[in-house]
Amino acid sequence: MTALAASPGGRAMHAGAAALSEKLLDTSTLARFVDPLPIPALARPTGTRPNPAAPALHVPYYRIAMRQFQTKVHRDVPPTTFWGYNASCPGPTFEARSGKPILVEWANDLPQQHIFPLDHTLHGAEADKPKVRTVVHLHGGRTGPESDGFPEDWFVPGQSATSYYPNQQEAAALFYHDHAMGITRLNAVAGLMGLYLIRDEFEDGLNLPKGPYEIPLVIFDRSFRPDGQIYYPVSGKPGAPWVSEYYGSAILVNGKIFPYLEVEPRKYRLRLLNSSNGSFYRLSFSPDASFASAGMPFHQIGSEQGFLAAPAQTNLLILGPGERADVILDFSGQAGKEIYLRTNVAMVMQFRVSRGKAADGSSLPVTLRPLPRIPQSAAVVTRELTLADYQNRLGRSNVMLLNGAHWNMPVTEKPVLNTTEIWSFINLTDDSHPIHLHLVRFQILDRRPFDLAVYQLTKKIVFTGPAVELDANELGWKDTVRVDPTTVTRIIVKFEGFAGKYVWHCHLLEHEDNEMMRPYIITPA
Ligand code: C2O
Ligand code: CU
Repeated sequence: MTALAASPGGRAMHAGAAALSEKLLDTSTLARFVDPLPIPALARPTGTRPNPAAPALHVPYYRIAMRQFQTKVHRDVPPTTFWGYNASCPGPTFEARSGKPILVEWANDLPQQHIFPLDHTLHGAEADKPKVRTVVHLHGGRTGPESDGFPEDWFVPGQSATSYYPNQQEAAALFYHDHAMGITRLNAVAGLMGLYLIRDEFEDGLNLPKGPYEIPLVIFDRSFRPDGQIYYPVSGKPGAPWVSEYYGSAILVNGKIFPYLEVEPRKYRLRLLNSSNGSFYRLSFSPDASFASAGMPFHQIGSEQGFLAAPAQTNLLILGPGERADVILDFSGQAGKEIYLRTNVAMVMQFRVSRGKAADGSSLPVTLRPLPRIPQSAAVVTRELTLADYQNRLGRSNVMLLNGAHWNMPVTEKPVLNTTEIWSFINLTDDSHPIHLHLVRFQILDRRPFDLAVYQLTKKIVFTGPAVELDANELGWKDTVRVDPTTVTRIIVKFEGFAGKYVWHCHLLEHEDNEMMRPYIITPA
């Protein structure tokens, strides 16, 4: 898995000569664990409005404004300019109930100039388009097409758009973020993201740690200039600054570098989200800061779309861009100690466990939500879809395509509402790509290595071995799947909820912005 190798953000920055000539803040020398972990505020409705689906009923109405603001990412770094929902990054956390719809008015109160250089050669970001454009997508939401944040449905400063979220789905951690055509990577680096939790009665009955013992951890990486401003590299190619991946030198949690959190010696529920542009993380919890020991055991209880069938014990969590994990970590027996969250190569944050004893009435259930596997025989269509990287003669990426098609070519994926399909992703590149489908939840069937050279000559798949065994935490409901290099990764998905136009794409945001995104249409039965 090449995308999981060395540097803090996952891999060395290979963004071109321009990056090397600029002096950046050396974040590795910053004092560790001097800032408390911030917890994002809760989103609060400002009133009610008629439910568009049933106007006699009123539903909670939220208004969230995107603003430019400044914040301290670390005690010793000068204030950084971000863009954030309600002027915070992460934005406020939504707490929604399954089956209880809400309305959110997303207002663009951003300045007229972007804080990062645009690439006008990218589709949808041409020079005749406004520089600052936003559209909000609720990732993982079973949302109607008109409210889903289609990338071309952007709006400019001074405008707003209202989305209706029915929340007709099981308890899960979703997240909202920007999705504007051709500039999603830049709007995301600027900070436009936040968590959206859906709760339900099943979850209420589980007796999991809650309130102050349930902690959101929104993880992303950034590099900074010495003046504290976010650094985003450019290619060095005149007029075409797009780079193929973004890896930051520092990993932030809830917007802070090396934060600490004071905890009690008891169980905690951690809601992790990797909202990085391009970094995959191999996360573990450990009582030593030296990387010498393997991580301590913990339990993953949920993936992107809700609970696993049973807690999966592990000491390593691989999280790609867009992926979430619901984790129970037990600090009992660690009283008075320090526990670190780290990747395989970088320190992330510290938990300071208080001395003495803590009451803990919560439990780690033996089983969670029943999770019937979808039989392959349920699929009426199987689609083979390639992931490919088209490079110039220097080996630099020019464009990446899904099944050889650009964004504006005719729609080829048109599943019928309420039918089940197998999507078979054939990765012809040497990167892992996190592939995300809007609207739906799916199950991973398998991931199997094949012979790339044979494929390139004959267009035939010749497997070089058996399917790789999936980790226990990959057996739950997903909405984003890691498609590893030279594997065929298959998912099975029922297209339910709504008919209409959606998108599927790579969640490496640089790839998504440069054609690794396609519309798909769910056609009525
Ligand atoms: Cu998280 Cu199409 O997005
Ligand atoms: Cu990709």
